[in-house]
Amino acid sequence: MTDMAAFIEGLPKAELHLHIEGSLEPELLFAIAARNGVELPYASVDELRAAYAFGNLQDFLEIYYRGLSVLRAARDFYDLTWAYLERARAEAVLHAEIFFDPQAHTSRGVAFSTVIAGITSALEDGRAKLGIGSKLILCFLRDRSAESALATLEEALPHKDRIVAVGLDSAERGHPPSKFEAVFARARAEGFLTVAHAGEEGPPAYVAEALDLLRVARIDHGIRALEDRALTARLARDAVPLTVCPLSNLKLRVVDDMAAHPLKVMLDAGLHVTVNSDDPAYFGGYVNANYRAVQAALGLGRDDLARLARNSFEAAFLDGGEKRALIAQLDAYLAER
Ligand code: HPA
Ligand code: ZN
Repeated sequence: MTDMAAFIEGLPKAELHLHIEGSLEPELLFAIAARNGVELPYASVDELRAAYAFGNLQDFLEIYYRGLSVLRAARDFYDLTWAYLERARAEAVLHAEIFFDPQAHTSRGVAFSTVIAGITSALEDGRAKLGIGSKLILCFLRDRSAESALATLEEALPHKDRIVAVGLDSAERGHPPSKFEAVFARARAEGFLTVAHAGEEGPPAYVAEALDLLRVARIDHGIRALEDRALTARLARDAVPLTVCPLSNLKLRVVDDMAAHPLKVMLDAGLHVTVNSDDPAYFGGYVNANYRAVQAALGLGRDDLARLARNSFEAAFLDGGEKRALIAQLDAYLAER
């Protein structure tokens, strides 16, 4: 292991962009399919993994939705979430803010309460047994209707104390933030914070809409914002956190190769970027693999890596005291390395 890889391995960090269904590893997918009596169109774990080749976001989403369809019982959601938390623990993730896609489950006949019960009991165990803090973010599938999103929000209300924010994911192009303006207004009135995937495959205008119309506290991805200088200046001035996912960008061909990834440009432009894993079972690595990939390809130094970790705590949906306690752990690590 290089010195930088060792530094990254122990670097205290938060993960703020992680789709829990995207952490479903092929081995667990096969095990859950077997116990639920689900037939898979793949003969082996290796055959399934070999199918993970994507030309773009849409190609990925088809495989992702097929994969998550093995999840049926609360225990499945528990096992999925627990497996992620164990990985996170091993990678010095002190705090994780986790997306879930309820419509991808309720539309298959799995109850909202089943999904939330499995995920939240694993998060409670993660806190008690692994010392990992966490928050849950409900994502609406933007390629479905605003009515479907609103119905999902209604289903979430009895579980409001377990969900910190709502977000937007799935196919971005042709599904602008404006489509969900009323749903997000209702969510804010109910006390939810808001985030949105924007500027991943979609244009910079979607990033501006997410800020202006959805009043988001963070932008997920946001890398195409760089195409608009005024927008970039606004994001820097207003210190809007961006949850960037380098291996995802590479695998979905949002960037051609890692050396061309704009993360360093974004840091140098004063943007509040963080590094995250998105769908680690599909994109070739968890959060530390993302840090390592950008470190190596962009020549990031210790100060850049420490800045990314500090940004991750500052951008978390935690109160000031909670953030200070986590940042103190980061500072202690930096002082002894
Ligand atoms: N982008 C958009 N939607 C998603 C993703 C992603 O990377 N992962 C799961 N849903
Ligand atoms: Zn994402």
